[in-house]
Amino acid sequence: MRALCWNGRNDIRCETVPDPAIEDRRDVILRVTSCAICGSDLHLMDGQMPTMEKGDILGHEFMGEVVEVGSPDHVLKKGDRVVVPFNINCGECRMCRLGNWSCCLKSNRNGEMAAKVQGYPTAGLFGYSHLTGGYSGGQAEYVRVPMADVAPMKVPEGMSDEQALFLTDILPTGWQAIDHCGLQGGETVAIWGAGPVGLFAIKSAVLMKAGRIIAIETVPERIELARIAGATDIINPADESVQDRIREITGGQGADAVVDCVGMEASGHGGVLGVLSKVQEKLTATERPYALEQMVQAVRPCGIISVPGVYSGAVPINMAAIVQKGLTMKTGQTHVKRYLEPLAKLIQDGSIDPTFLISHRSSNLEDGPELYRKFRDKEDKCVKVVFHL
Ligand SMILES: NC(=O)c1ccc[n+]([C@@H]2O[C@H](COP(=O)([O-])OP(=O)(O)OC[C@H]3O[C@@H](n4cnc5c(N)ncnc54)[C@H](O)[C@@H]3O)[C@@H](O)[C@H]2O)c1
Ligand SMILES: [Zn+2]
Ligand SMILES: [Zn+2]
Repeated sequence: MRALCWNGRNDIRCETVPDPAIEDRRDVILRVTSCAICGSDLHLMDGQMPTMEKGDILGHEFMGEVVEVGSPDHVLKKGDRVVVPFNINCGECRMCRLGNWSCCLKSNRNGEMAAKVQGYPTAGLFGYSHLTGGYSGGQAEYVRVPMADVAPMKVPEGMSDEQALFLTDILPTGWQAIDHCGLQGGETVAIWGAGPVGLFAIKSAVLMKAGRIIAIETVPERIELARIAGATDIINPADESVQDRIREITGGQGADAVVDCVGMEASGHGGVLGVLSKVQEKLTATERPYALEQMVQAVRPCGIISVPGVYSGAVPINMAAIVQKGLTMKTGQTHVKRYLEPLAKLIQDGSIDPTFLISHRSSNLEDGPELYRKFRDKEDKCVKVVFHL
């Protein structure tokens, strides 16, 4: 089969690889009908995430049709159309039983190594380095889904691939980021980054009745989409002081909640930080927590910092300000399964149209390397790439 494979920093190729095979009775094999490139994939492309190996198959946002099952009594049957959360869940461990799906204690078969490298392992993830289990991803014609009796959801009748695909990751990620803010209604939420995750966070903040939704972003087409998603205020950090504008909007108080939809590859803007971040972008493995630093300053006392953005190691953060302000930080890989059904209902009743951010479509994985590059460089107004195979 054909698949998008990692071959080194900034070297992604479409290659012929062996078809996946059933390894366990809980497995299924999917014929992938649609898949997408995620901002998290850029951390692999850029070489920020350690333990990638030449030939690893990428992709954790995918859906498809079951073509093979590991046992005759599997809950999934040949022909079922399923959408697959990016985290793999055993369904049996304490974290799975608590619904903390992204912290599954059993699905990451390289958990010990991850604990040594990063301090603590996540659940097993598809196509996301050997620290997350070394499972092949779904930017491919076929994919093996381990423990497929737990996380995947059958696609509701009448829902198109484009409506369902982002249930795998970015839609629940944006939703969880705002869920973590504990809104009662009317609050001011400031969201750094209007990439796919930030855009769904904005949409979620609208649905959870935030009063003011401030989007912080520099890229024009993403700013435009932030407005469409429902941002009430836009701050472009390349043109103006983020802190001054947030103080002005909130009458000097600071935002009730701040949300990091940028992660470890933030750009610095203006002065020394701008130059430094340009140099760091050329190097590998340098975490740049610029958005997070701004958030600590911009949130009001006793406010919430919500961090869906991904980090791969230790970053310096002003703990004194966090304690002095009495802040609460909520973080995490998304517990995707927790949100599948409620979000599918919101798609079905028209409250969310997840397709509004798709900028590039392709029916050929051969376009993958070029589309990865366009997405990374934000060229050709690239916001979200989807493959229909
Ligand atoms: N927690 C999870 O489970 C989970 C799931 C998916 C993605 N993520 C993470 O969420 C983050 C965003 O993902 P995405 O797909 O939207 O990525 P993306 O790279 O497309 O978007 C990031 C956006 O941040 C903007 N940005 C960069 N520096 C900034 C700064 N200093 N201030 C404000 N904006 C800035 C960029 O212009 C870009 O539009 C990534 O770190 C990704 O790894 C986490
Ligand atoms: Zn993702
Ligand atoms: Zn588990």
